[in-house]
Amino acid sequence: MGEERRITISVIKADIGSLAGHHKVHPDTMAAASRILAEAKSKGVIIDYYVTHVGDDLELIMTHRKGIDSPEIHGLAWEAFKKATEVAKELGLYAAGQDLLSDAFSGNVRGLGPGVAEMEFVERKSEPIIVFMADKTEPGAFNLPLFKVFADPFTTAGLVIDPRLHGGFKFEILDVFEGKYVVMSAPEEMYDILALIGTPARYVIKRIYRKSDNEIAAVVSSERLNLIAGRYVGKDDPVAIVRAQSGFPAVGEILEAFAFPHLVAGWMRGSHFGPLMPVGLKDAKCTRFDGPPRIVALGFNVSKGRLIGPADLFDDPAFDETRRLAQTIAEYIRRHGPFMPHRLGPEEMEYTTLPEVLEKLKDRFVEAKEYEKRIKPKLRHSALLSGEPHE
Ligand code: F6R
Ligand code: MG
Ligand code: MG
Repeated sequence: MGEERRITISVIKADIGSLAGHHKVHPDTMAAASRILAEAKSKGVIIDYYVTHVGDDLELIMTHRKGIDSPEIHGLAWEAFKKATEVAKELGLYAAGQDLLSDAFSGNVRGLGPGVAEMEFVERKSEPIIVFMADKTEPGAFNLPLFKVFADPFTTAGLVIDPRLHGGFKFEILDVFEGKYVVMSAPEEMYDILALIGTPARYVIKRIYRKSDNEIAAVVSSERLNLIAGRYVGKDDPVAIVRAQSGFPAVGEILEAFAFPHLVAGWMRGSHFGPLMPVGLKDAKCTRFDGPPRIVALGFNVSKGRLIGPADLFDDPAFDETRRLAQTIAEYIRRHGPFMPHRLGPEEMEYTTLPEVLEKLKDRFVEAKEYEKRIKPKLRHSALLSGEPHE
């Protein structure tokens, strides 16, 4: 296992503006980003790349040998987003440059706006990976499916019957409010893990490792733009990388977890719960009520750092019933209109008028006791029945 086989996969994404509202990325912005990455590939900065989009998010998938958090690779992504933003501005695309929160790049895109998932490992003889990319939701959307992939034997048969998986996995969980990590072990601490990650707005699965040898198995982007910017500037549509086969869950076990379109936060104005619908690239665009939230899965084989593929894994009739169920759930939950639990709780909403409404009404709110005294009926029923004189 020579050093030369250590490879890093960096998936870096940003919403730099889109066509027809927050619907989908324009091909010319993808072309602008691709040109930057092609040049970097020709200079040997990166080994390979694939540029795509899911909804209004421009996704850069890159392989290189510079490790995670490399200033050179993050700088490259920043440059690609900048160039794409120039095109977006020129075309008058909507919300051009939205996720590039700072004009000054300082070596790392983390904390600036783009979402990042990166992992480094020694390439196996054959290295199948899946890159997941979602739009109109948040990093915690991966909590439920990744728990199922790496800890639920009803999803991943290998946890029970493959000796290489049987030892279980370690979950690195990030408290995005406190900026603290805790590492927990499945299956032993399953209930405690669930006690945390069942609150996906706060506790986010960041990385998963195989316990037997500490090999990295999965990583999720965990940037929360609202907390980064100090105000809400858009839901932080997440990406994840998952390694598959030969001691990791099989591709089919990983995809199986997405056959249930669970409810995630995001959708219209980043302020509604809706079903996460798995789709192929051709349907990676948001329409109804700016959604429903969507997820794409691209399968690659990483070979000497090259990205062989992709295979558009959800572009398959096997997920038709999931999509149909997602539509039924969308129809059902939409009928709640502005009511919770369709609308998020006040602390999680991306848009809100509540403070202004409360301010406007502040002088019209009356203490309950005082108010009840005021509305006491002048005419008592007893008086009416007995014919007693009344005021
Ligand atoms: C959600 C999203 C969209 C917008 C909505 C309003 O993440 O991107 O649902 O929030 O289209 O957008 P603005 O305020 O830009 O008109
Ligand atoms: Mg957006
Ligand atoms: Mg988006």
